[in-house]
Amino acid sequence: MSVTPKGLRLTVVGTGYLGLTHAVCMADLGHEVLAMDVDEEKIAKAMRGEVPFFEPGLEPLLHKHLDSGRLRFTSSYDQVGLFGDLHFLCVGTPQGAGGAADLKYLHAAVEGLTPHLTGRCLVVGKSTVPVGTARQVAERVRAVPGLEQVELAWNPEFLREGRAVQDSLSPDRLVFGVCSPWAEVMLRQAYARPLAAGVPGLAMDLETAELVKVAANAFLATKISFINAMAEVCEAVGADVLQLAEALGHDERIGRRFLAPGLGFGGGCLPKDIRAFGAVARQLEIGSVADLLGCVDAINMGRRARVVELTREAAGGSLAGRRVAVLGLAFKPDSDDVRESPSLDVCDRLTREGAVVTAHDPVAIPNAARISPVLRYADSVPATVAGADVVLHLTEWADYRAIDPAALATVVGQQTIVDARCTLDTQLWQAANWTVVRPGRR
Ligand code: UGA
Repeated sequence: MSVTPKGLRLTVVGTGYLGLTHAVCMADLGHEVLAMDVDEEKIAKAMRGEVPFFEPGLEPLLHKHLDSGRLRFTSSYDQVGLFGDLHFLCVGTPQGAGGAADLKYLHAAVEGLTPHLTGRCLVVGKSTVPVGTARQVAERVRAVPGLEQVELAWNPEFLREGRAVQDSLSPDRLVFGVCSPWAEVMLRQAYARPLAAGVPGLAMDLETAELVKVAANAFLATKISFINAMAEVCEAVGADVLQLAEALGHDERIGRRFLAPGLGFGGGCLPKDIRAFGAVARQLEIGSVADLLGCVDAINMGRRARVVELTREAAGGSLAGRRVAVLGLAFKPDSDDVRESPSLDVCDRLTREGAVVTAHDPVAIPNAARISPVLRYADSVPATVAGADVVLHLTEWADYRAIDPAALATVVGQQTIVDARCTLDTQLWQAANWTVVRPGRR
């Protein structure tokens, strides 16, 4: 293994959200990193120090390690093979047919990389994959003459968008799916700094490592859908889901995190991962898991319909021709990602019912406009709500909690706000004569 005085020499294949963050953070952990993508445009941008998505803290760190010389970029597999002995696969695994994961980028990366591998090296998958994928890839690679010494490991990533740098540099845990003590040693060297700082490093077999990732996302999604199902019960009986969540969360066994009721989950991970896991469960004929995840998904999608219903009621029974102002388009705050954004889905549903939607987001408008060009977009909150019949709060940016409801009252048509994320200060808005509607509270 080639170890420079500063660290290992390692490569990262795929420079999307996961790969670019991983490459930058591994350079920050002291390694010499070569990051590779087949998309030359992406590589050119990265070499210029540009991060093509909104991720706090990532761009300065990219600049730092372009300058330090520890991070380089290429579009050549040849250079990747020559550069290091530890190769991280960080390509996307989008949703494919029937909800199953589409592994075409992973297979293409393996096909692209293997002809350039020589001697003993470790290929480490980080992408989220259906259980069993790693073993199949390992067998395929080992069957190639000359690659008998190439080993495969799986090291799933748990970073959250908006906190990607922090999550990568000091994760809650590191999971090492390995087939040999040597592979574990390699991974422990790669993560020597966080491990020395006390981050738990858990070694296990490939299948368990793959499962940790999908089970974690399935659990988080289930927790969110559980509290959203409770919101439905609260509405039916006149209880308050926020007070319920607060009281439940004080039980340490339950915990308050991921128990925020409202519009539910979206993004590039939770929705696709529970569907892919459901597809695996159906294949394995484990109906209970497929049913559970199907329910979690259905409850989640049901919240979007409920918010539309609350908006329709607030608009007087019909949305046709009504002006609706939407605050927040990203799937969650501190991100410009609109993949599977619950907000954009609500906007589409409102538009289909004839509402005229004007939307705002601190950073996600360019991405939203590419997907939903028919929506109107405004670049300030007052311009968004001007003349609106109903205002919807759909992504809980801190900026929106800082809004002065009295000032907004002077420009809005009707003072009604649907707080679909249940994070605004209801009393403050009511004191300024607003009607505040929120899910989970009749
Ligand atoms: C999620 C996981 O949290 C990461 O651990 C994982 O690495 C990542 O997926 C992935 O698989 O790559 P992320 O999609 O960035 O991370 O976002 P989260 O912070 O988990 O939020 C997901 C969705 O749940 C958002 O739409 C958020 O608004 C929603 N949410 C979250 C709720 O509706 N209620 C909550 O209480 C918490």
